Amino acid sequence: MCETCGCQGSISLAASSASPSETTSSTPSTPPPPPFVERWSDGLQDAIKVVIGSHRKPPRRFKSFLNGTWFGHPLHPVITDVPITAWLLTAVFDIIWLIAHTTWAAYGGFVAVIVGLLGALGAIATGLTDWSDTYGAERHVGFNHLLFNAGATMLYLISFILRLIAGPGDGIAAAILGFVGLVCVIYAGYLGGEMVFTKGTGVNHTAWEAAGEDYEAVLPAEGVEEHKLYRVTASGVPVIVLRQGQQFCAISASVPSCGRTIR
Ligand code: HEM
Repeated sequence: MCETCGCQGSISLAASSASPSETTSSTPSTPPPPPFVERWSDGLQDAIKVVIGSHRKPPRRFKSFLNGTWFGHPLHPVITDVPITAWLLTAVFDIIWLIAHTTWAAYGGFVAVIVGLLGALGAIATGLTDWSDTYGAERHVGFNHLLFNAGATMLYLISFILRLIAGPGDGIAAAILGFVGLVCVIYAGYLGGEMVFTKGTGVNHTAWEAAGEDYEAVLPAEGVEEHKLYRVTASGVPVIVLRQGQQFCAISASVPSCGRTIR
């Protein structure tokens, strides 16, 4: 099962003919990122996978929770609205305070920074989880997205500390740090959109496939070898079948989270 988009299938096996298939990557070739970025990404992805339990046997409840499998939708894009909106409001309050020196604007900015930081915690946890399953060009864009979001979060954290020390409304430096943080988070949002809309990260590539409600016979069970991929068709939808012991697993032949097409 794909834990990013939740796509999965279950198929009864009986009569049909199919042969084991090869997997080939359909990701277009893009210039490789610098080796040190690759090394850091490898290390970070391994560490994330240990923390969220990717290497454990399913059900991986914590990972599925952070992916949003239970929600039927990636959780990350939902949570990211909180810091982006809160920090945008922070800038509005700060501009009002800088112009008019009104106390309510100072307190508004203070509260908005805190709400944004709390939302950023959730966005970072869910974002790292989704990113840990990426590779190639999307992983590289995701890494830059991570750097700008982490930078923005640090800037807002310092801005919050300054506001706390000096008291709300007594910190031009805190406001300026917030403006810089906002630029970072907006650019990071652009990179996030790049991942989703250009690279297809987290996109359900089976959204328009007509799935049948009933079980369908696709293969003679006794002829299916273990640990080999079989490409079959169920209700007109290409599906890959894999046997592990007495368990048969099936998934759409278009694997969105991995960006691979199985031919
Ligand atoms: C303050 C923190 C963050 C904010 C505000 C943020 C914002 C966004 C936005 C706006 C998108 C585009 C969503 C869409 O168009 O559907 C996105 C996507 C994405 N972000 Fe983040 N992000 C944050 C942290 C992170 C971190 C730390 C990572 C880890 C590398 C990350 C990984 C991703 C991934 C993999 C996607 C692709 C869509 C998905 O998997 O949900 N994000 N992010």
